[in-house]
Amino acid sequence: MTSDWVQRYQDNLLGVFGTPFRCLDHGRGTRVWDTEGHEYLDFLGGIAVNVLGHAHPELVQTIAGQAAREIHISNYFTSESQIGLAERILDAAGHPGNGRVFFCNSGTEANEAALKVAKRASTGARTRILALEHSFHGRTMGALSVTWKSRLREPFLPLVPDIEFIPATLAGLEAAIDDTVAALIVEPIQGEAGVLPLPPGFLAAARDLTARHGALLLVDEVQTGMGRTGDWFAFQASGIVPDVFTLAKGIAGGVPAGAMVTTGRASEILRPGEHGSTFGGNPLATAAGCTVFDVIRRDHLIENARERSAQILQVLEGAPLVDVIRGRGLLLGVRLTRPVAHELVDAALAEGLIVNAPDESTIRLAPSLILSADDVVEFRTLWGRAAEHVSGTN
Ligand SMILES: Cc1ncc(COP(=O)(O)O)c(C=O)c1O
Repeated sequence: MTSDWVQRYQDNLLGVFGTPFRCLDHGRGTRVWDTEGHEYLDFLGGIAVNVLGHAHPELVQTIAGQAAREIHISNYFTSESQIGLAERILDAAGHPGNGRVFFCNSGTEANEAALKVAKRASTGARTRILALEHSFHGRTMGALSVTWKSRLREPFLPLVPDIEFIPATLAGLEAAIDDTVAALIVEPIQGEAGVLPLPPGFLAAARDLTARHGALLLVDEVQTGMGRTGDWFAFQASGIVPDVFTLAKGIAGGVPAGAMVTTGRASEILRPGEHGSTFGGNPLATAAGCTVFDVIRRDHLIENARERSAQILQVLEGAPLVDVIRGRGLLLGVRLTRPVAHELVDAALAEGLIVNAPDESTIRLAPSLILSADDVVEFRTLWGRAAEHVSGTN
């Protein structure tokens, strides 16, 4: 990035993100190019958003075509694409006819909707909402209230009351869940915490205990959803059905969109007028979402996510700086042998590879689902060069 861009950014944008790494110009497939013409292999995918990569021809065609027809219509009206995307989500979730979808615009908003369902289900002594230690559910006030890091929450206290953080263990679940719990919210893999999977049997136990005590189970699939972990939704690997799950990030391939999906009694809790969104479910976003679902299915991209994941694990075995790899499918956290993740991100960028560091010892990989076998081979080469650079300077 030229200093001109840096200065203009700093002079005009609110300083909540720090200085961007690069100023990007365009992308195609698994690659992006910056304004100086440098090419990057994108192993972050806009943080698990660009499931079809960049400038996917069919997604581009859908968006352009839809923009020419109608971009926005308000929720006094519906569109074929809004209904079609809801049908595709419910079909992928395995509850066609027994589920409902609420559309919004982001992950935090999807979780706000889920928390409103939980709040509305609270009666009498049933007021507690449980979240997990190390959770991340978003930045708006409700979602922030169930987000673990005190650094993010404390400047904004008081937040939503009656929220408790419990350890992500079977014992933690058993100790906390009783008839005073309105809902438990969990991520199947805690992405922002450094790609931490839940312990084996955790989701099944959470489902069993919440059902037994009349509490709702809310599953946040914002980062794990849309085929990334090797199933449409990560909870499916545990064979459970949550009362509510939330989606965003990859749902429309980069067009801002989110969704809350309910089933069973959770579909009956919010009454007409109790929630809403101006932009949620608009024709542009939902048309993009339909194309994302259709391309993932037609091109077997969930299978590809599994295969490329296995290949990444193979090529990183014994690679420099690699200690342990966590996660599933194309949401992987590489724990490093030393706390040099931020230096490695910089060195990777200099070599033409985009990854990120959720903490100082972890590199997160969340590439698009169209990743090819050749991309993974190139990734290994770029990783090796970046790691060599870091080792040489430490
Ligand atoms: C699991 C999870 N939930 C919610 C969010 C918030 O999503 P958004 O940034 O779209 O509001 C994120 C974002 O990283 C996330 O990873």
